[in-house]
Amino acid sequence: MYTLGVVGLGEGRSIMSAALRSDRWELRQVCDLNPNVCRARADEFDFDRWTTSYEELLQDDAIDAIAIYTPDQLHYAHMKQALEAGKHAICTKPLLLSLNGAQELIELSARTGKHVFVGQSSRFFEPMLRQREDFEAGKHGELETVEAHYITDGRWFLEKGWSRQAGFSWMYNFMIHAADLVRWYLPGVEEVVGYGRCSETSRSYGLDAWDNMRFLLRDGEGRIGVVSGSYTLPTLGRDAEPTIQCTLRGTKGSSRAEYFRLHYYTHFAGEGKNVRTFDDLHGYYFRFEGESHHAGEYQNYIEYFADALDRGATPYPDVKEGVRTIAVLEAMRRSAANGGERVRVQDILDERGIEA
Ligand SMILES: NC(=O)c1ccc[n+]([C@@H]2O[C@H](COP(=O)([O-])OP(=O)(O)OC[C@H]3O[C@@H](n4cnc5c(N)ncnc54)[C@H](O)[C@@H]3O)[C@@H](O)[C@H]2O)c1
Repeated sequence: MYTLGVVGLGEGRSIMSAALRSDRWELRQVCDLNPNVCRARADEFDFDRWTTSYEELLQDDAIDAIAIYTPDQLHYAHMKQALEAGKHAICTKPLLLSLNGAQELIELSARTGKHVFVGQSSRFFEPMLRQREDFEAGKHGELETVEAHYITDGRWFLEKGWSRQAGFSWMYNFMIHAADLVRWYLPGVEEVVGYGRCSETSRSYGLDAWDNMRFLLRDGEGRIGVVSGSYTLPTLGRDAEPTIQCTLRGTKGSSRAEYFRLHYYTHFAGEGKNVRTFDDLHGYYFRFEGESHHAGEYQNYIEYFADALDRGATPYPDVKEGVRTIAVLEAMRRSAANGGERVRVQDILDERGIEA
C-alpha cells in the first residue's frame, strides 16, 4: 500500500475518488487553500483529513506521493517542494507552462531519486489504452501518420479567475492532450510548423491567447503528426466530432480512439472494419455529475504508478518525457508566433541546456 496526499481539490476530486477506491493506495491527507472546497470534499467523500496548508501536507512523513492539481502557474513550485520534501510527484497536465525550470526539475528528480509522473489523463482512457495495445502488437504495420485533436467549447473555463491570469494558454492547458498523444506515438518529433489565432471571444474575456491552432509535426523518419485545437467556438457535438481523438494510420491498418465517447474504431489487415464500444465502463470513467470529471483515467494511472513503484520501474510519462512535450509546445508556439516558420525541437532544448 502506498500513501497519497493531494493538493488542489477542484480536479483533485477525481484522484481523491481514485485513491479511495484503490487497494494500492491509502489517501492520507488532502489540501486546498480554500477551506470551503476542503469542507465540500470532506462531506462528499466522508473524508475529514484536510488542511489549507501545503507545508503541513509536505511535513507528513507517512506520505509517499503528492498529487498536484493546483492551477497551472503553480505546478513547478509545488513539484519542487514535493521532491524536496522527499515525496514522489504526480502532476496533472501541463507539467510546466514554459521550459523555465525544466532542467532544474529533471536534476531535482534525479538527485532526490523521486519520480515526477505526468498525469496525461487522455493516455489512460479506455479507447486510448486499447489503441496503444494494438500499436504495440504491431497491428498498424509501419506507422505513417498520427492525427490528434482536442476541440471543445471551453468558454466556461474562462470563468475561472486563474485562466485569465498571466501564464494561462489554451495551448498548454488544453491542446497539450492532443500534442501528448501525437508525441506518444512519435517520440522523436524533430520539426514543427503551424499557425495560431486568437478569436474575438477570447479577447472579450481579456485573454490574448490563441484559441484556434493547427500544427504539423515531423519525426526523424519523416512520419507526420497533426495536432489541432479550437476552444471557444460552438462545436458540432460529440456524435459528429469527438472532443479528443487520436488516429493512427499505418501500412497494415488504421485506428481511431475517441473521447468522450467510449468508442474505438479499427481497420486492420485481415480483420475488416470494426468499432468497439465500452459503454459499460461509462460509470467507471465518469463518476460525478455528467461527464465533467473523468476519474477512471486517474484510477488507471495511479494503479499503473503503484505497479511501477513495485517493480522499481519508471512510470511514464516521466519528467524527461513531460519536458520533451513542453519543448514541442514551445516549438509550436514559436512557429505560430513567427508566421509558421519551421522550428526544430532540439534547437530549443539546446538553447536552454536541457538534457531531456
Ligand atoms: N484531464 C486532466 O488531466 C485535467 C482536467 C481538468 C483540470 N486539470 C488540471 O488540474 C489543475 C486544476 O484545474 P481545476 O480545473 O481543478 O482548477 P480549479 O480552479 O477548479 O481548482 C484549483 C484548486 O486549487 C486550489 N489552490 C490554488 N492555489 C493553491 C495553493 N497554493 N495551495 C493549495 N490549493 C491551492 C484552489 O483553491 C482551487 O480549489 C490545472 O492544472 C488543470 O490543467 C487536468
